[in-house]
Amino acid sequence: MSATYSQQAPAKINLFLHVTGKRDDGYHLLESLVCFTAAGDVVSGELRTDGKITLAVTGPMADALSNDHTNDNLVVRAARLLQEEANTELGADLILDKRLPVASGIGGGSADAAAAIRLLYEMWNLDLDGDRLSAIALSLGADVPVCLHGKATLMSGIGEKLTELPDLPPLPIVLINPGKPVSTPAIFKAREEDGFSDEGLWNIHTRYESGAALAADLQECGNDLTLAATSILPDICDVLNAMAREEGCLLARMSGSGATCFAIYDTATQAEKAANAIASQHENWWIVPTEIRCEQSQILSNIGASFPD
Ligand code: C5P
Repeated sequence: MSATYSQQAPAKINLFLHVTGKRDDGYHLLESLVCFTAAGDVVSGELRTDGKITLAVTGPMADALSNDHTNDNLVVRAARLLQEEANTELGADLILDKRLPVASGIGGGSADAAAAIRLLYEMWNLDLDGDRLSAIALSLGADVPVCLHGKATLMSGIGEKLTELPDLPPLPIVLINPGKPVSTPAIFKAREEDGFSDEGLWNIHTRYESGAALAADLQECGNDLTLAATSILPDICDVLNAMAREEGCLLARMSGSGATCFAIYDTATQAEKAANAIASQHENWWIVPTEIRCEQSQILSNIGASFPD
């Protein structure tokens, strides 16, 4: 029997997200502090020697992907691109355990694509340089390079410029999605008349020892897509208010283009209490107490990231 390989695909959180400009091709320039959580999807797989790539989707959110043609799934597209780039005749039977809500601002599809790249890199015993892997990642989506990197990062450009930051302290957070997908292009379009934020507002050298200190500095920043997202889906305001009302909440904010929001709590006990209290009032919301994950991915740890001087 062949070995089973497995990679976590952690949820991506935009602790802040500033829109700093727009390119001629319509893509927006961003500056965002990105981190990852213990909660996420899982991609696993076994080697095939005939070059075929197959994908089965399991898990609580699998149904949300059932309309997707498997060939269009980002995991399969990532595998095909990597296969082509590496010029290998190896293939894989992949399984995506889908636990994160889709189209929800926490990078589900991007995280899955990045996990597939990490998994196949190991399974196929590849030796590609970081720039080529980063280019493959970016061609799959603006958030895929940062997901490939997998640790606290200041992301800029459209997602291709990554600056590694000091590890964040272990932060208890709660993720909540109101159960409705939102379209990223629609959110960017809805904010068309809003201005742009300044660049360089985040000090990339600061080492945070507590969630309270980090949350205090994050108050100076925000998510520039929130207004547009709440105008399309007002439920996001209900989520933010519900999180902020619970004891120990240091910061409640939307991630990415929404609709998933996160709240940082002072202690893990407070985060769990908040999650339980909110769940008892909102049966249809997806609610997960988790924490920021600080460890770096074992493989490809430095891909695409520059280190501040
Ligand atoms: O690259 P990704 O597939 O994640 O982006 C989805 C859509 O979101 C893009 O087609 C674009 O309309 C919008 N977007 C943007 N600027 C970014 C990232 C995404 O305008 N930096």
